[in-house]
Amino acid sequence: MRSLLSILNLMPDILIACLFPCYAFSGFSPFGSHIWWPIFHPNFHCGLFTIGYPKKLDRLTEIIELNGKVTDGIVTAMKRSYTLDSSASWDAWLALSSTYKEPLIDSRCLSRIREVLKHFVRDWSDAGLSERTVIFEPILSVLSMLSSSSRAHKRVLVPGSGLCRLAYDISTLGYDTTACELSGYMNGAFRFLLDPETTTTTSQHEVHPYGHWWSHSRNIVDLFRGVRFPDVIPRLAMDAEVGLHLKEGDFLTLELGTPNSYDYVVTLFFIDTSVNILSTLERIHTLLKPGGIWINLGPLLWCSDAQARLELSLEEVFEAMGAVGFVIVGGTDGNDDDEPDCMKRRSISCEYTHDEQAMMRWIYEAEFWVAKKV
Ligand SMILES: C[S@@+](CC[C@H](N)C(=O)[O-])C[C@H]1O[C@@H](n2cnc3c(N)ncnc32)[C@H](O)[C@@H]1O
Repeated sequence: MRSLLSILNLMPDILIACLFPCYAFSGFSPFGSHIWWPIFHPNFHCGLFTIGYPKKLDRLTEIIELNGKVTDGIVTAMKRSYTLDSSASWDAWLALSSTYKEPLIDSRCLSRIREVLKHFVRDWSDAGLSERTVIFEPILSVLSMLSSSSRAHKRVLVPGSGLCRLAYDISTLGYDTTACELSGYMNGAFRFLLDPETTTTTSQHEVHPYGHWWSHSRNIVDLFRGVRFPDVIPRLAMDAEVGLHLKEGDFLTLELGTPNSYDYVVTLFFIDTSVNILSTLERIHTLLKPGGIWINLGPLLWCSDAQARLELSLEEVFEAMGAVGFVIVGGTDGNDDDEPDCMKRRSISCEYTHDEQAMMRWIYEAEFWVAKKV
C-alpha cells in the first residue's frame, strides 16, 4: 500500500472528506466563547431567560446537528466516489479519517464548509432562484442565441464551476458542457447531489445555513430557518455523450483538451480568484477555438486568500485582454448599436449567496462582457 502521505498528495479531496465530519462537532467554534458568556458569567442577567436566550443556544445545537446530516451525506458520497473512481483503498480511507480528522479542524475549514451550505441554497434550491436569475440570465441569453439544433456540436467550458448549477443549466440548453472545479469542498458537495444513493428525489435534503452568523438577524425563526434542496437532480453524462461533464482540479494545469478545443468559455465570479490573472487570460485564450467566445460575469474582488500576485483595475484587465488576443464584442464602452443588447458589456448589480431575510445587503457591481478570441 502506498504511504499515507503519497495518497494525501495525490488525493487531496480525500483529506477534505475527512474535514466534513468535523462540522457537526466543531460547528460552534467559529462563534468563540462570546455567545456562551451570558449564561456562565457571574453577572448573568435573568432577563436573558425572559427573552429566551438559552433556547436560542439550544436551537443552534439542533441546527448544527441537522446540518451534520448533510455533511455526513457528503462524506458518504465522497467515500463511495473515491473507492469506485480511484486507486485509494478502503484501508487507506479509514486510516486517513481516523488519523487526520481532528488536527486539521480550524475555523478556515469550517468557514469553507459553511460556504458550501449556503451554496446549496443559492445553486440548488427554489429559494436561490432570484439570485441565480440575476447572474445566470445574461449568460444564458447569449448562449440561447444559437439555434438549438447547433448546440450539441458546441463545447462549453465553465472553469471555477463551484457547485455547478450554471454549468448544469448550460448543459440543459443542449451544449456539451465541461465544469472544472479545484475545491474539494465544492466537488464533495456536488458529488452528494450526483450520487444516486445519497440524492434520489427533489427537496430530499434540508440545510440551515444562516444560523452561523447572528449579526443582522431580525428574529430566531429567520436565523435558523431550513431550506430544502435540490430543486432538480443533476446527473453527469457518460464520457462520449453530450451533456454535463466534471473535471476536478486546477483549470490552469488540468488536462482539459488540446488547445483550440472549446467554442465557449464561461466564467462567473471566477477571474478574481486568480493568483495570476494573466495566466488565467492566457489559458482561456489557448483553450478557445479561433473566433471562440468568452462570457464573463463577476466583480474584481482580488482574492487575498489565494494571495493574488496581480490586482488589476477593470481598465487594466481590458488592456491585458487585448494584449492576450481578445476583443470585447460591442466595444469596451458597450455602446455598439450593431450588437444585440444581450451581447453588450455592462455592469450588473448582484449578490452572492446572500441571506434574503437579513438586515444587510452586500451588492456587487459586477461586470458582464462577451469577448472573442482573435
Ligand atoms: C467565487 S467561487 C465561484 C463559483 C461559481 N462560479 C459560482 O458562481 O457559484 C470561485 C470558484 O473558483 C474555484 N477556483 C479558483 N481557482 C481555480 C482554478 N485554478 N481551477 C479551478 N477552479 C478554481 C474556487 O474553488 C471556487 O469554487
